[in-house]
Amino acid sequence: MNKQLILALSKGRILDETLPLLADAGIVPAEELSASRKLLFDTNLPDVKLVVIRATDVPTYVQLGAADVGVAGKDVLLEHGAEGLYEPLDLEIAHCKLMTAGVTGAEPQRARRRVATKFTEVARRYYAEQGIQAEVIKLYGAMELAPLMNLADEIVDIVDTGNTLRANGMEPRELIAPISTRLVVNKAAMTMKHDRIKPLVRRLQEAVARRREQASA
Ligand code: ATP
Ligand code: PRP
Repeated sequence: MNKQLILALSKGRILDETLPLLADAGIVPAEELSASRKLLFDTNLPDVKLVVIRATDVPTYVQLGAADVGVAGKDVLLEHGAEGLYEPLDLEIAHCKLMTAGVTGAEPQRARRRVATKFTEVARRYYAEQGIQAEVIKLYGAMELAPLMNLADEIVDIVDTGNTLRANGMEPRELIAPISTRLVVNKAAMTMKHDRIKPLVRRLQEAVARRREQASA
């Protein structure tokens, strides 16, 4: 039976915070990730490999079993859907919020609101739940520009400090979901490789708890 473990890590801003947690749980890449154009990496453990991919691709790799375990933002997971995935652990990093936002001081008046976002599934669900008719416009970045350019009335995006919104004459409106980075596990792998995955989840859980204690000390 193939007992090799493949971990899919989100590149970008989550990666720098993920690696110390993994190291604390006993997994260290065999080479410097950022110094390489490689995408598949060996680790200090002969049967554990890392793939470093776009954040939005992590749930797909894990759901379809190309990776056993993944690290991804809750925003990405909400957008992708939970099918085929367990989410056993909050890694408590990259805290932010998924919010609606609009032009500062402007009342959201349109009967059918135009909403620009890269989180189209989340936005459709949210506005439907609120009983608001929404025309959801897919963008791939710089959502904060859309209301300024009269492309949309509102956006759905990540908000942390609020600086990006403020710098573009916008303000946060409604909270859709608090966000942090989660560990996800392929459902079949959780059964088939239980003896490998269970200890990994436990060690990561302990690493998260240690980090939390250090932060509050
Ligand atoms: P992709 O390259 O796939 O489009 P991305 O550019 O959104 O992804 P990053 O900006 O690296 O990727 O963000 C990765 C994750 O970090 C997000 O999914 C979210 O969970 C979290 N995140 C994004 N922006 C912030 C922020 N300003 N503060 C804290 N966490 C954030
Ligand atoms: C993210 C997000 C917001 C911004 C929010 O963008 O898309 O634009 O952070 O953070 P703030 O509230 O602290 O300003 P990021 O910096 O990752 O750039 P991106 O547009 O390339 O994702």
